[in-house]
Amino acid sequence: MKISKIEERWKVLTENVQIGILIVDKDGLVIFANNKAKELFDIKNNKNNNKKLIELIPDYEIDDLYKKTLQNKSYNKTNLNFWGKEKKYLEVEAFYLSGNQEVLLIINDYTPLYRLEENFKEFLGNASHELRTPLTSIQILIDLFSERKITLDEIYNEFFPYLRKEVERMSKLVSNLLNLSRLEAGVIDLQLKEVNLTEIIMEIVDRLTPHISKKNLEINLKIPEKVIVSADPQHVDTIIFNIVENAVKYTPPSGSIEIGINEDSDNVVLWVKDTGIGIPEKDLNRIFDRFYRVNKSRTNEDGFSTGLGLSIVKKLIERHGWSITVESKVNKGTKFEIIIPKRKEGVKDG
Ligand SMILES: Nc1ncnc2c1ncn2[C@@H]1O[C@H](COP(=O)(O)OP(=O)(O)OP(=O)(O)O)[C@@H](O)[C@H]1O
Ligand SMILES: [Mg+2]
Repeated sequence: MKISKIEERWKVLTENVQIGILIVDKDGLVIFANNKAKELFDIKNNKNNNKKLIELIPDYEIDDLYKKTLQNKSYNKTNLNFWGKEKKYLEVEAFYLSGNQEVLLIINDYTPLYRLEENFKEFLGNASHELRTPLTSIQILIDLFSERKITLDEIYNEFFPYLRKEVERMSKLVSNLLNLSRLEAGVIDLQLKEVNLTEIIMEIVDRLTPHISKKNLEINLKIPEKVIVSADPQHVDTIIFNIVENAVKYTPPSGSIEIGINEDSDNVVLWVKDTGIGIPEKDLNRIFDRFYRVNKSRTNEDGFSTGLGLSIVKKLIERHGWSITVESKVNKGTKFEIIIPKRKEGVKDG
């Protein structure tokens, strides 16, 4: 009676903790698995599943750890990669429980930490690669000039515009990187105000007019005179500018762009729809990733691409508690939709 009370208490205590807990008896049968262990190893909730450890968790490293601990009546620990639906980084500790000759397995899931580290390494690699390219061009120019292989005149007439572009490219990259890292560090405050979306859209279209005219693009505005939302005006400008700029950039000459707003009792929905080159389906869920570009070229006739625009947009949208969707067909066009819930408490702090 007493023991079952303790068992009950143990179950309540361990059921929902964020470390995986398994108890395996001396015959290799799993006699207890808490929720986290079930989640980690995708163990189905089946009451009479007194199954063998190796059947429930098909991993020989974990099985060996169990056997070793049982045999040596000892404590052992290992770090391993577990391949379930996705790769997991686990630390498994095994304790010998002498009372019933059982082994207690404690599993710590370090996957989120490793992911963070992998993302960081990838980010550093990408950032330095992107910066090195313009720097190399500038370096070559300086070398040519210092070896007197080109004259000041040539520099001024031929290389100056090129040099300016490279510097502009670097400035854009560095300022995008800075914004992104601030957003990720959570040090950008939202200055919430009543913002008229219509006014912001008109101003952005104005700013992009030189590019729009150059490509002979048609702009259709389907927006009411005034649409007020609670938002940070500067961030809203960044969000809409990036999306409209993309529409302009990725729509071939003589195409059209529609910017519209729909409002119902729950949401304000802002969309930007173009008749551009479109995004292949396989790339659609990657375009919000840092540095991701469908076409890997960093330059096109409309300027240069850092591949950071949409990742900044996504972060800002999340900060406001809004959401963004995209649908697209290659060679037909793309539509981005921003959904702004009509509630002030949607804004996250931090
Ligand atoms: N309207 C669009 N039509 C077609 N492709 C698009 C559109 N918007 C975005 N993309 C694709 O998504 C990628 C990522 O967009 P994002 O705005 O993040 O970067 P970018 O435009 O390449 O660079 P930057 O924004 O720094 O100028 C683009 O490189 C492009 O391949
Ligand atoms: Mg962009």
